[in-house]
Amino acid sequence: MANTIEPKAVEYFENVKGIPITIPSPLETFASRLALPLLALISRDKALDLHLTPIDDERVIMAMKYANGRALDIGCGANNFIRSYGNGLGVDVHPWNGCDQVITDAAKLPFKKGEFQTITYLACLNHIPNREASVKSAYKLLDKGGKVLVTMITPHWGAFIHWIRFRNDPDHQARHIDHDHELLGMSYEQVGAILVGAGFKNVSRKRFVFGLNNLYIAEK
Ligand SMILES: C[S@@+](CC[C@H](N)C(=O)[O-])C[C@H]1O[C@@H](n2cnc3c(N)ncnc32)[C@H](O)[C@@H]1O
Repeated sequence: MANTIEPKAVEYFENVKGIPITIPSPLETFASRLALPLLALISRDKALDLHLTPIDDERVIMAMKYANGRALDIGCGANNFIRSYGNGLGVDVHPWNGCDQVITDAAKLPFKKGEFQTITYLACLNHIPNREASVKSAYKLLDKGGKVLVTMITPHWGAFIHWIRFRNDPDHQARHIDHDHELLGMSYEQVGAILVGAGFKNVSRKRFVFGLNNLYIAEK
């Protein structure tokens, strides 16, 4: 297919432990909420060893609750969402282990119009420099009535969490972050404007993990 290169292994983000991610019970969620300050400081593997929900899995769990049909996960990283949800594929510009297809441009996606019922951007819209064009392209790939799911922290909280999790964040450790074009978080207004500008309607926001993170849902 056009615009793709072969994935190569990037050992650091192998991340197969605890895959598939499952939706935790209310008791497990309660324990993870109590341990949130600790979870912000430790690695995904360490959290799993403690039988807690890793902080990076919370967005995957939210997306799993709202996704339906065949899904495309853009900026998929280790592809934990698709590997857990089980229907669709994940693409990324970086050749992480687990990624289904490496792309060169998130606005030139090599798929057919209307091919997906759900398109997700989990913690990655801020990292995509041409994010407006990417979301417009995602709109075309969605079936009528399909939806886009975006998880995004706000700029101030994003700056703090990127700082506190620096050592345990594979994205920061293994990939060059271009601070001229990538953001550490985005506001409700920024995300909403991009979704509406691409043609999406019925934009709603669900806050999760004590309102520290946001899931945006919008329909085609
Ligand atoms: C914080 S990680 C999130 C990974 C994954 N979505 C998750 O929830 O674990 C940000 C991801 O955005 C990807 N990314 C960065 N620039 C991108 C671009 N221009 N197009 C698509 N993905 C990009 C990175 O490679 C990385 O996998």
